[in-house]
Amino acid sequence: MRIAIIGAGYVGLVTGACLADFGHAVRCADKDPAKIDALQRGRIPIYEPGLDDLVARNMAEGRLSFGSDLCWAVEGADAVFIAVGTPSRRGDGHADLTYVYQAARGIAQALKGYAVVVTKSTVPVGTGDEVERMIREARPDLHFSVASNPEFLREGAAIEDFKRPDRIIIGVEDDSARAVMADIYRPLCAGHAPLIFTTRRTAELTKYAANAFLATKITFINEIADLCEMVGADVRDVSKGIGLDTRIGQKFLDAGPGFGGSCFPKDVSALIKTAHDHGTSLRIAETVAEVNERRKRAMSRRVIAACGGSVRGKTICLLGLTFKPNTDDMRDSPAIALVQALEDAGAWVRAYDPEGMEQAALILNEVEYAGDPYEAALGTDALVLVTDWDVFRRLDLKRLRDGMRWPIMVDLRNIYSSTEVEAAGFLYTCIGNGR
Ligand code: UGA
Repeated sequence: MRIAIIGAGYVGLVTGACLADFGHAVRCADKDPAKIDALQRGRIPIYEPGLDDLVARNMAEGRLSFGSDLCWAVEGADAVFIAVGTPSRRGDGHADLTYVYQAARGIAQALKGYAVVVTKSTVPVGTGDEVERMIREARPDLHFSVASNPEFLREGAAIEDFKRPDRIIIGVEDDSARAVMADIYRPLCAGHAPLIFTTRRTAELTKYAANAFLATKITFINEIADLCEMVGADVRDVSKGIGLDTRIGQKFLDAGPGFGGSCFPKDVSALIKTAHDHGTSLRIAETVAEVNERRKRAMSRRVIAACGGSVRGKTICLLGLTFKPNTDDMRDSPAIALVQALEDAGAWVRAYDPEGMEQAALILNEVEYAGDPYEAALGTDALVLVTDWDVFRRLDLKRLRDGMRWPIMVDLRNIYSSTEVEAAGFLYTCIGNGR
């Protein structure tokens, strides 16, 4: 099949590269000429494990190409995927659909024959209807369909998620679109990934419901972690104990500093707004958003308490800045609120992150950035583990401690066990362990 992808951001690149790898001919367009220039020269603008090799291989084999002209990408395509950004609109928390509608207008002008226009970006319920209306208004005689095919990719594991999905959700309103979408995903169906066809609006809502549910699960276990500390229980065992019940499931029950990233906070907020627009409210989602924001700010109080009640004039070492490992993404990372609160409380912050320091420096400009974890910890008064990168799981604890002024460790990801860290001479606190 011939496929066009509009937007060479995170979702567009992963989708384009994976669909090309299935054997489809993929043209990917982005209006940023610098990005296209870099991609054409084999440079990937984001950090995603395995993506550079996948892009390079499919480019070399002639199935994947990049350009800045939308008409070139759309020409002869059986399906055109809209994979542009949908940031939170400033002020009201709604999803900003400017780029989606711009893409729809461009596609309307460029289409020469039948194609399925597919929204891949996370878009509020009803966006597919609006995209269809816009194209029909611009091109009343054109035969086309609009489908919704939300992505469920986790940053850092996106290629695996695309190639081995739990399910593929496709919202269509007609048989032609259904047939094209079934052909596109046929290579995955051989691997028995369930293809769920539904209506466009249902598909759009399913994406938000999935993210809001996962965010709820995390927030629930975070609150249980706080309670564990008060009643003398251990949240790790509670997670295991409830997660082994297959109705609950073990995933997304790791207590931590609160969820961040470019999806959960934005999508929970957009879902809340959709409910308001329809005259109702999603009280659980509203509470999740509020509790999570409060939690991110509250993490600084843990560090201050571990330092004996004040961090004024002290230097705090942060290991990990990104919202999760295997990404360079700093958006809505719990590290941001933590650094700001520590600096407000009079501390100096020194930090190390394997991939995120370039992005972090754009937001957190008072922080001193170090070349490795040991350099970051040298001479500091406390060490805070913020992101659970694998490299932080096998630190030489004794070497770390020997370099520090005070051997205090605050583990916000429960990477270590207290026995191990205390044996290395640290005073250790983690999340949700009241024993
Ligand atoms: C999330 C979803 O997991 C994807 O399915 C979805 O496609 C994507 O959003 C999206 O809408 O595009 P992502 O934001 O990349 O993916 O990251 P997650 O791995 O879901 O983690 C989100 C946040 O939750 C991170 O801050 C992470 O540290 C936190 N988290 C996750 C926890 O605190 N505890 C957990 O048990 C799991």
